[in-house]
Amino acid sequence: MLGLKLSTDPRWAIIAESNLEEILTDHAWCEQKAASNAISLIAYNSEHQELVHELTIIAIEEMQHFQMVIDIIHKRGYTLGRERKDDYVNQLMKFAKKDGSRNMAFIDRLLFAAMIEARSCERFRVLSQHINDKELAKFYYDLMVSEANHYTTFLNFARRYSVDVDVDKRWKEWLTFEGKLIQHYGKTQTVHG
Ligand SMILES: [Fe+2]
Ligand SMILES: [Fe+2]
Repeated sequence: MLGLKLSTDPRWAIIAESNLEEILTDHAWCEQKAASNAISLIAYNSEHQELVHELTIIAIEEMQHFQMVIDIIHKRGYTLGRERKDDYVNQLMKFAKKDGSRNMAFIDRLLFAAMIEARSCERFRVLSQHINDKELAKFYYDLMVSEANHYTTFLNFARRYSVDVDVDKRWKEWLTFEGKLIQHYGKTQTVHG
């Protein structure tokens, strides 16, 4: 359903579970960044009423996810560490087109968001299926469902607001690029690492 070209090796879940404080810290900041991204999309595209409405809901949901993650961190006696660099997301950002028309940059920004939601959703599914911690397995299952909805929302907005971009063609380019990029990851205790 997500169209991803490469599935995550389940052994990544074992690596992630070997240091829960680390993966939860990274995960918390992923949620914060998702909220920030939704807010900046609202700020730059305020003329689109439905987008403003839906992305406000998403920004709130992402901060609720952030809150859920930090609650787990604190309940377990862990400490929320400093924000981790997300090299995977930075590489995706470089792929996003910024020099074409305003509409092109806008559509690519939506596809960038859809791409991160798709991979995050897949990573949460892998965690929900392969970690031994029952509470976290259930938690990641619930988040997987939520991020799948966000993925659909961003992709649908890209289709709706495109003026001169062939969204299906461009989305295929995103999937191909991401499929190659993700081959370099899957070895660390971060959501996209
Ligand atoms: Fe989220
Ligand atoms: Fe999300």
